[in-house]
Amino acid sequence: MYALIDGKKLAQEMRVEIKSGVDGFTRKNGREIGLAVVLVGDDPASQVYVRNKIKACEEVGIKSFSYRLPADSAETEVEKLINGLSADKNVDGILVQLPLPKHLNADKILKLIPAEKDVDGFSDENTGKLLTGKDCLVACTPNGVMKMLERYGVQTRGKRAVVVGRSNIVGKPMAMLLLNADATVTVCHSKTENLKNECLSADILVAAIGRAKFITADMVKDGATVIDVGMNRDENGKLCGDVDFEAVKDKCSYITPVPGGVGPMTITMLMYNTLQAAIRRKVGL
Ligand code: GUN
Repeated sequence: MYALIDGKKLAQEMRVEIKSGVDGFTRKNGREIGLAVVLVGDDPASQVYVRNKIKACEEVGIKSFSYRLPADSAETEVEKLINGLSADKNVDGILVQLPLPKHLNADKILKLIPAEKDVDGFSDENTGKLLTGKDCLVACTPNGVMKMLERYGVQTRGKRAVVVGRSNIVGKPMAMLLLNADATVTVCHSKTENLKNECLSADILVAAIGRAKFITADMVKDGATVIDVGMNRDENGKLCGDVDFEAVKDKCSYITPVPGGVGPMTITMLMYNTLQAAIRRKVGL
């Protein structure tokens, strides 16, 4: 019998806790916590993400500053905005929605965000600190996965964790977090030989590949915990993850569904990071 890791429920519970932290901060410091959300262009998926981020801010009592720039904005215009937000004392977190239009140098623009306001946890300083196990702002999706494992009492210490996918946003920080939590970690990717055997060794299997139903039942060990970071459409246009949920579920002790698993945790962790950023800035961390 498998148990479902209910990301939607956990995200709601966490938002209540975050709201209470945000309210406490606002009362004590006489100012609201601020998150600046920057969207350049009109990518439809990005518009949905940004709208949901602003909605989440309202829910937890964080003040959102929303900036929408046209797709053909000059790099200097975007840079000027980010520099202004970096200096603004009422802005605790800055989020530049990705992808940016192709003519803009995303690396150069993201580098302008000071590490203490980098609520995505993408900066060199924050990723470097994660690597060395120091306190820092951590990328939202993998940090959300760790919260799920913690809240459901899934042990990581001494366990074998396999992360499939090596992106800078999910796979790599995920591996670091699991390693820092005393798991024995393997990172697999498109060039991995014998992927099936690697996956079969996993007590905790994290799928962050970006291919619909890629993880099949023959790749999962009996009793494994399976975390599905994927967000794809299947052959009928229905939302599905990187794991073939129906085929895999009965082999698992825990499994996350799609939708309703990792997805709802990501934006909640952005709220969590924004609260952390405000507290850290206050105490000068
Ligand atoms: N686009 C897709 N995922 C993300 C994310 O986590 N952060 C930002 N800034 N943009 C994204």
